[in-house]
Amino acid sequence: MNSEYLVEVQDLKQYFPVKTGFMKNTYLKAVDGVSFAIRPGETLGLVGESGCGKTTVGRTLLRLYEPTGGKVLFNGEEVTNKNITALRKEMQMVFQDPYSSLDPRMTVEDIIGEPLDVHKLYTTKAERRDKILHLMELVGLNAEHATRYAHEFSGGQRQRIGIARALAVDPKFIVCDEPVSALDVSIQAQVVNMFEDLQEKLGVTYLFIAHDLLIVRHISNRIAVMYLGKIVEIADADELNDYPQHPYTVSLLSAVPIPDPNITRQRKRIILEGDVPSPLRMPTGCAFRSRCRYATEKCAKECPKLEDRGNGHFVACWNK
Ligand SMILES: Nc1ncnc2c1ncn2[C@@H]1O[C@H](COP(=O)(O)OP(=O)(O)OP(=O)(O)O)[C@@H](O)[C@H]1O
Ligand SMILES: [Mg+2]
Repeated sequence: MNSEYLVEVQDLKQYFPVKTGFMKNTYLKAVDGVSFAIRPGETLGLVGESGCGKTTVGRTLLRLYEPTGGKVLFNGEEVTNKNITALRKEMQMVFQDPYSSLDPRMTVEDIIGEPLDVHKLYTTKAERRDKILHLMELVGLNAEHATRYAHEFSGGQRQRIGIARALAVDPKFIVCDEPVSALDVSIQAQVVNMFEDLQEKLGVTYLFIAHDLLIVRHISNRIAVMYLGKIVEIADADELNDYPQHPYTVSLLSAVPIPDPNITRQRKRIILEGDVPSPLRMPTGCAFRSRCRYATEKCAKECPKLEDRGNGHFVACWNK
């Protein structure tokens, strides 16, 4: 396959069946027609408020959920045609909560060794141990910690263990699902920097999920902004930061503090009115219109599609 992309997502849909009352069933459209592509070695940031479908996109990419519709291609091949064990060796996930995603009664050695066992990545016990120690060193953990239990570690260190476990199979692609959101603000930057260093060393490709732009804008080459199951804007990280076009992105950016007080003063904070609508009671047309100050009649009738506005910048909005 000569695709320029490592990962291609085409019109991905993930609908969950839900009960809305006695004998009443409906679908919750967690992801509704999402498309994007990621080049080898690139980081795509995926941002949006809680519940907009970010984790579901990540989990569907890795086939932790089977898609309701659409396709995911990895190296040009549809993931649904691939053997799941082979897929797990190429694509991994780092989870949001390092407390619930690691078994507290397992030692660091057991946790990192598990994927090595599953994928039979060593021939001798000594080789297994060397690999574990190497992975620990990669993520900045001390060799002496190998026999300690996960519950003995702080959040930041647990997340390092989780990353070492994901790296154990030498994957090409990692979905990092809000890997620093549960951590103390003071160590978030450290852990994000570690992800960057690892990418430089290993050439791994990331989908980096976060709910605010502050976290992703340095690590990402490009950023996609999601609102209620759809991507509303996608562009190079700098371009999106400097020239946001979708009113939702503008409001997200207005909440990000800027070190220069002059710029902060110019960029007025935009507080969105109303709550995110329930995904079970979506507005007609553009889902954002109920909170958008530019909404017109057209927005209620028809949902705008992502449209190329030049410079690799795509926006789904009727307002230009
Ligand atoms: N297994 C499931 N069954 C039913 N509904 C689900 C399931 N998983 C997620 N949802 C719903 O799908 C929507 C998207 O959820 P998702 O977890 O993907 O959002 P998110 O953007 O990752 O949010 P957060 O920032 O809080 O992690 C939500 O409305 C959620 O309640
Ligand atoms: Mg999530």
